[in-house]
Amino acid sequence: MSVTEIVPGLEGVPIAASAISRVDGQNSLLEYRGLNIETLAEHSTFEETNFLLLYGKLPTRRELDDFIRDGARHRRLKYRVIDLLKCLPEHGHPMEALQAAVPAIGMFYPERYHPGTEQKRLSCLRLIEKLPVVVASFHRLRTGDDNLIPRPDLNIAGNFLYMLRGEEPDPVRTRILDVCLILHAEHTMNASTFAGRVVASTLAHPYCVVSSALGALSGPLHGGANEQVLTMLERIGSPANARAEIRRMVEAKEKIMGFGHRVYKTIDPRAKILKKYAEQLCRRSGSRFYDIAVAVEEAASEILSDRGICPNVDFYSGLVYAELGIPRDCFTSVFAMARVTGWLAHWIEQLEDNRIFRPTQKYVGRSGEAYVPIERRG
Ligand code: COA
Repeated sequence: MSVTEIVPGLEGVPIAASAISRVDGQNSLLEYRGLNIETLAEHSTFEETNFLLLYGKLPTRRELDDFIRDGARHRRLKYRVIDLLKCLPEHGHPMEALQAAVPAIGMFYPERYHPGTEQKRLSCLRLIEKLPVVVASFHRLRTGDDNLIPRPDLNIAGNFLYMLRGEEPDPVRTRILDVCLILHAEHTMNASTFAGRVVASTLAHPYCVVSSALGALSGPLHGGANEQVLTMLERIGSPANARAEIRRMVEAKEKIMGFGHRVYKTIDPRAKILKKYAEQLCRRSGSRFYDIAVAVEEAASEILSDRGICPNVDFYSGLVYAELGIPRDCFTSVFAMARVTGWLAHWIEQLEDNRIFRPTQKYVGRSGEAYVPIERRG
């Protein structure tokens, strides 16, 4: 088959058949393996959602217990990985530290090259369990704190909050982070998942797959937007300034971070859930950010919603993370801690019926040029 038209950003072009998740952007719907995201946010846990995404079905009680127990066994980092984190510049971005650490972690596991069922299971458990530990450890080390040993008695969200802050995690905050991880775990063929699938199609090992996806996620048009939303809200400073600033940004053709989506042409269902938590947490702490965010949402919606540009997952997630005590430059890494499950589910799916990605291009350069010796070039 020959396709001659270039489709910028591959908009609307299917690149794989996938049974992992589904988005209906007109009806604000997101499903993981056929289960709707609101139901999962209300009833599931990140661990159970991970099982669902990786194995395609909800676990039995026994399967879930085994999955949680086995996962917690793979939480600790090798001391040499901790040494590696200590050597990284403390002013480097946490996403860069994470991207440096992931292939380095993989180097300790020779089975990474042999994707049999058991090796796949181990790679998934290791990556899902170790990413949050890397994020928390890098943050502690860069701020001069001692690194903490992960606790197997806590869930992934609770252990992350414990390691980051060095104190017993509060159950309400742990549950809110758990829901955030569920909401961010998978989202069809976005840029980082596509990057991961391209690398998976070369039969590279899963630590390389995740590392490439991390690079894609780090950009401000993808996972980096939540960090920028908070910076924008800070700049706006009060609800009264929202309308004028949004108008100025739209007139200057500046993008409003946390707004717009390739697929959703109405509000992102994840944003609705996160908004509720942002309100709950900001009211509890007295933070002014929730009211500023609502004023920005109203002003931006008035101007942009006719064009299908509505709040996306990143609009309220930064607010929630800030209220959970997560440093602003770690927001994208928290997104990655969740999305790693989706990337791994796509890695497994890609290998089931693999063909290397090798698209084509439309050549627009010169041809048949003469080689001019350097002394005769003008
Ligand atoms: N603020 C203002 N205008 C926006 C906008 C935003 N957040 N998002 C899109 N638009 C406008 C664009 O300027 C463009 O206008 P034009 O047709 O007059 O040139 C039009 O809507 C289409 O935008 P485009 O960037 O081409 O859409 P896309 O599908 O390629 O990109 C995003 C989708 C997510 C990259 C884009 O909406 C964006 O950059 N949003 C801000 C970053 C963000 O929140 N990212 C997280 C996504 S979950």
